[in-house]
Amino acid sequence: MKNYRFNPLLPLGWALDFNMNPLCSVLTQSVNGMVVVLEKIILPDSNTLAACEEFLSRTETWNPGLQLGVQVYGDSTAAQRHTSASRTDWQIVKEFFGRYRDRFNVTFHVPSTNPVVKDRINCVNAKLKNHAGQHRLLIHQHCKHLIRDLEQVCWKTDPHGNSLAELDWANRDLNVGAIIALAPDLSPIANLLNTTQTAVRNILNTWGPGKFDAELFLDGKAFNPQQITDGIVTGTNVPGATLIPPAFGLGGVNLHTWTGWGSVPHWNAFVANLEMHGQGRFWDPRLNEGAQLPIAATHGFGDLRLPNGQYISPDDDMITSKLQALQFYQLAIPSPQPPSDSFDSAAATRGDELFSGKAKCNNCHVEPLWTDPGWNLHTPAEVCIDSFQANRAPDHRYRTSPIGDLFTHFKGGFYHDGRFSTLMNVVDHYNSCLRLGLSTGEKSDLIQYLLSLTFEPESSGKHPGRSSSDSHGK
Ligand code: HEC
Repeated sequence: MKNYRFNPLLPLGWALDFNMNPLCSVLTQSVNGMVVVLEKIILPDSNTLAACEEFLSRTETWNPGLQLGVQVYGDSTAAQRHTSASRTDWQIVKEFFGRYRDRFNVTFHVPSTNPVVKDRINCVNAKLKNHAGQHRLLIHQHCKHLIRDLEQVCWKTDPHGNSLAELDWANRDLNVGAIIALAPDLSPIANLLNTTQTAVRNILNTWGPGKFDAELFLDGKAFNPQQITDGIVTGTNVPGATLIPPAFGLGGVNLHTWTGWGSVPHWNAFVANLEMHGQGRFWDPRLNEGAQLPIAATHGFGDLRLPNGQYISPDDDMITSKLQALQFYQLAIPSPQPPSDSFDSAAATRGDELFSGKAKCNNCHVEPLWTDPGWNLHTPAEVCIDSFQANRAPDHRYRTSPIGDLFTHFKGGFYHDGRFSTLMNVVDHYNSCLRLGLSTGEKSDLIQYLLSLTFEPESSGKHPGRSSSDSHGK
């Protein structure tokens, strides 16, 4: 929304959220049942008084000489919590308006308890678009952070896939296979795989939410005949798709895919050219390995050419010029902080000792990258699992997953194919694979530590976590 301007005949709403860094608040007006967000005040590393002063300066010219009606909304918890030592945040706001009685006529709407998260989210969703299809929330286009926040939030789930009524960050819901299967004509894929469209549809529908099988179009293998974990057969004909990993936390990490194909610029070129069939150049002679990747080798995927045998002209290449910006963007994606009440910090401190000691995790998941600095690949035998997926990639290995922010992707399981549904399954697996001899208490301490890991360089594994109210959004 571009054109709405402050209407001096209507009261101004100011909604504050304390216990946040950056400290955030929005200036709104209610127009015919429609909430209009005029401005957002974002103050990093700041305090409530500074927010009040910013409010004063933003509204300075809005109603010169007249008293401005202000409706203040906010967080009930701020009545108990302090961002300054001696007074609660609401006391500070009230004292501030007390000093400017001539300029503002203020009414406070602060509940004694906050409504449950579900209700708050339903309320915001209904404002965005209700069942009648009405939009009752307008946001000024310069509030870019707010628009992005609203576009990106989604529900978080526990390791069993149940909604925790909080926010999630990795996409484990998008069912890519089901979407591709809806295409009316799948003959290009069917021809490539030398099979029928029905067979292709059936394969695509085995992938499930949050997964993708990039190698299907290279080797034609749709199923892992035998999934083996710690010497035991844990599945037969398991779909060959792998989980979609989070796109943040990749700075400093060498290889960015489960089986170490390459880094962000390699994989973006790979996907844009070979999977999405955009127009560009792609060079990766490892794809000429006919015994391993027969389809890729037959079709010359390792050195893309036009039908006439020439390379595409740089003027027609729609991909190569985008790789730099895409990489830069992906490496800049901020990573979230686990809510501080989502793990037990005393247990996490004990788990920290185990992680780089008795449990040997730091041998590969090296703090604070949480992967090996250097060539971050290991043989299937080193982590006691079958080689099916590793053998579909040039180095026949698995990449050490950067395990910061695990709380963002509980859904879908752990390891490339999601074979471990909980972190306890993962730890039990290492206990057996690496013969660690961990006690039940040690395993649970280690898990609390895993839950605390982040990708923030200054806090990783040291002072993790932040106030839980931050994760809810408003
Ligand atoms: C020999 C190197 C190595 C050691 C030691 C190691 N890991 Fe791993 N870890 C890996 C590799 C490789 C993967 C990826 C496996 C895959 O892709 O299936 C992985 C994956 C994981 C994952 C899954 C991450 C995800 O996104 O699904 C977790 C959690 C994990 N490791 C925790 C641990 C813990 C806890 C320890 C110590 C008890 C440990 N690792 C020890 C190499 C190692």
